[in-house]
Amino acid sequence: MKINRKLAVIIILIATVTLTAAATISDPEPVRYTNLKVLPKNIGSKELQGIMVDDFQDGLGVTCNFCHANAKDSRKLDFASDAKPEKQIARVMMRMTLGINKKYIKLKHPQIGNAALVVTCNTCHKGLPFPEGTEPK
Ligand code: HEC
Ligand code: HEC
Repeated sequence: MKINRKLAVIIILIATVTLTAAATISDPEPVRYTNLKVLPKNIGSKELQGIMVDDFQDGLGVTCNFCHANAKDSRKLDFASDAKPEKQIARVMMRMTLGINKKYIKLKHPQIGNAALVVTCNTCHKGLPFPEGTEPK
């Protein structure tokens, strides 16, 4: 009986450790973006990338560096930096786009990147940084 009880304790300990490890593996640390003001702060990396590529890059016919500034000490982009005015304009445009969908299309909870959006960046931009006819003279 004594041995059995010891065995039971060991089994429970092993099970606890295994379950804890499994929980850690299946629940990876979410990506932490540090400077989101319009998108949800807990947005997943797949969803954010989808917005940056499909809505912004393709919608405006530009690449990431149109809005994102270079990092100071490398040739990589510093995605959290607000140094480029285009990024700030993009935020204004995001709020405007959400506003149009909410106020005029009457969508309840419009989110950039959501398939339910009726008006998107592409509705006006059609693959151009300035919608046709609005380029500065
Ligand atoms: C038209 C402008 C625009 C383009 C093009 C663009 N982005 Fe962004 N990006 C933004 C804006 C605006 C934000 C901040 C959104 C907010 O405040 O909610 C952002 C945020 C990000 C962030 C989060 C940074 C942080 O930590 O806060 C990442 C990562 C990112 N963009 C990657 C990319 C990549 C990769 C590309 C190219 C495939 C790209 N972006 C193209 C405008 C742009
Ligand atoms: C209702 C139409 C409309 C929608 C929707 C729209 N835009 Fe725009 N956007 C414009 C117009 C018009 C201009 C030119 C404004 C000007 O002449 O100053 C512009 C300009 C911009 C610029 C500045 C371009 C430059 O080279 O300086 C950026 C960046 C931009 N839009 C990003 C976006 C993003 C990102 C979205 C989606 C979240 C979006 N826009 C949605 C109409 C729109």
